[in-house]
Parts: sequence; C-alpha cells; structure tokens
Amino acid sequence: MAVQQMKAEKSLSPVWESLILSCPKCKGSVEHHQNQFTCLSCRQTYPTVDGIPQLFWKTEWGSAKQDVTDSMKQFYEQYPFPNYDDFDSAGTLVEKARKRVFAKLLDDQIPFGTRIIECGCGTGQLTNFLSIAGRTAIGADMCMNSLRMAQGFKERNGLKRAHFFQMNLFRPCFQPGQFDLVISNGVLHHTADPFLAFKTISTLVKPRGYILIGLYHKYGRLTTDIRRGIFRLTRDRYKNMDRHLNENISEARKRSWFMDQYKNPHESKHTIGEVLGWFKETGFTFVKSIPKTVPFESFSASEKLFAQDELAGWLTRSIVELGMAVTACKDGGLFIVIAQKTS
Ligand SMILES: C[S@@+](CC[C@H](N)C(=O)[O-])C[C@H]1O[C@@H](n2cnc3c(N)ncnc32)[C@H](O)[C@@H]1O
Ligand SMILES: [Zn+2]
Repeated sequence: MAVQQMKAEKSLSPVWESLILSCPKCKGSVEHHQNQFTCLSCRQTYPTVDGIPQLFWKTEWGSAKQDVTDSMKQFYEQYPFPNYDDFDSAGTLVEKARKRVFAKLLDDQIPFGTRIIECGCGTGQLTNFLSIAGRTAIGADMCMNSLRMAQGFKERNGLKRAHFFQMNLFRPCFQPGQFDLVISNGVLHHTADPFLAFKTISTLVKPRGYILIGLYHKYGRLTTDIRRGIFRLTRDRYKNMDRHLNENISEARKRSWFMDQYKNPHESKHTIGEVLGWFKETGFTFVKSIPKTVPFESFSASEKLFAQDELAGWLTRSIVELGMAVTACKDGGLFIVIAQKTS
C-alpha cells in the first residue's frame, strides 16, 4: 500500500521537481511542502499563488545604481507581453509558431528531454510551445499577470511539461548549471544592468549547454526610435505606421505591442560586438548570430541553429551592424546571439 501510494505521489509530482531550487534571498537549499517553499538556511518562505511558485526576491543594488525592476514590473503587470489572441489554443500556438522560421527551427532542433529555462518569458508562448515535444520548459518572469496568462494557457491545454515561476532574473531560484538551454529574448535591455543580468542567467547553463539571447540593436532600433518620435509629436495619431498594429491580432496584443515598443519606461541598446565581450568574460563561445556577421550570408530556413558560424572580423562586423539601421527594422530591431558554455 505504502509503495503504491509512493508510486502514485511520484507520478503526480511535477516534472520540475527533478530540478534543484535555490533560495533567491540567500542561495540556500529550498524545501517544498504542499504549496509552500521554505529556505533551509534563512527560513524565508515563499507561497504558490494560482499554481505559480512565487520565488521572487528583489534586487539589492549597490548605492550608485538606480533600479528599474519596480517600474518595469508595474509596467508589465499592466501590459503583459506579448499577450494572447482571443481564440488561442495549443493547436493555434503550434501553427503560428511553426510559421515563424526561428521558432520552427528551435522546435525542430532542440531534442526531446532537453531542459530549458526562459528568463523573462512574458505570457509564456515560447515556453508553452517548446514544452510540447517532451521537453521540460521553465518559464520565469517577475510579472504575475503575464505568468497567470501563461499558466492558464498551460492548464487549459494540458501542457504538463511547462512550468511557470515568479522569479527575478538577478536572483535565480534554481541552482547553477542545470539547464541545457537558457533563453532570454527581449528582456535584458529592460534591466538596469544587462551585462550583470546576462552573467547571472548564464550561471544556469550546464557545461557545454547553450544560451540564446535577443537584444535591441543600437542601429537596428533606429526605425522604431523615429516612429516613437513621430508618435510623441502627433499624440499617437499615426500609430498605423507600425505594421504590427495593422495585423489580424487581438486588441490586447496590439495594445501590449504598442506599449512595449513605444511607451516602455526603460530600454537600452546593444551590439553583437558588445555581447561577444560578455561571452569572453563568462566562458562562452560564439555559435551563431542573427543577422550573420559575414556580409551577404543570410539566415536560411534550413539553418543549423547550434552549429558554429564563422565570425567576421571587427571591421566587417561593424559594417554589417551599421547596416542594421536599414535591414533590421522588422520586430523592433532585435538581434539574436547563441553561444555555448565552454569553460
Ligand atoms: C518585452 S517582454 C519579453 C517577453 C518574451 N520573452 C517575448 O519574447 O515575448 C520582457 C519581459 O521581461 C520581464 N522582465 C524584465 N525584467 C525582469 C527581471 N529582472 N526578472 C524577471 N523578468 C523580467 C518582464 O516582466 C517582461 O515580461
Ligand atoms: Zn534563504
């Protein structure tokens, strides 16, 4: 009987329980009992609310730095991003994601059984999508409204391998080195210290594992900056200049996009060259960037995402990056870089 009960309990326990949690306040070990988490070192407790463990701890910056976590949190609580369409289901999620070349390639090339964490998962589309093919996907964000949407979608669609946590990416609630892939797309540039944010989430990657980050590009963001200026001068009268706002998506998604792109309280801009410096300091090796750094080499629909690309020299790379002022106006001027933890 006891054995039977144990078996039943085991099969009921969520997939994330094979991961080792860490107290976001003091990095001590965390015990999980029913819906509560307790740190065995500092005895801090953390509740589970609406099925979401709230392992959030604020960032304590040194005196000089101005934190933006609170203002960003308030902003995304009000405008969860990217939000859902009215009739979204697991089927439409897969259909839409697989129409996007990059998401399709991720789905095709990340193996079954992989452990992924998405830091700053927003409303959880990518986490939910990637969990479908037998991967364990953790979505972590500080914004509860976004996480509730992510969790609601997961529950309605029975996505058992997706799990959502309220977490501050500067204070991870997982012990280091447990994930094959760490993803953070469109997030680090909304923090007070993007390099420190990168350094912190990079500790979650296993040796030989990968990190994928998406950041606003210094020059690629130019078109958005110009539009923002026009909207400001015309009191948002010409909003339709942004092609996303003319698409067949829900009003909620349009509002989230508009606010995220044009009314965001904090964003910074970066270059591939800068991120290469981050990799050097943290023991990562460059694998791939979108756009590619070699001129006229384009990203193809059969791209091998985790195969190492040639990295152009400084001058060529700088020319390609400057060119992003005209080539990267889609999707808000983001660039993506993938790297492997090699030391
Ligand atoms: C622009 S949204 C991107 C969402 C998603 N990654 C995507 O590509 O659609 C930025 C997200 O980062 C989250 N975020 C910003 N700073 C964070 C922090 N310090 N810890 C955790 N999440 C954070 C916000 O709550 C927000 O959901
Ligand atoms: Zn603790």
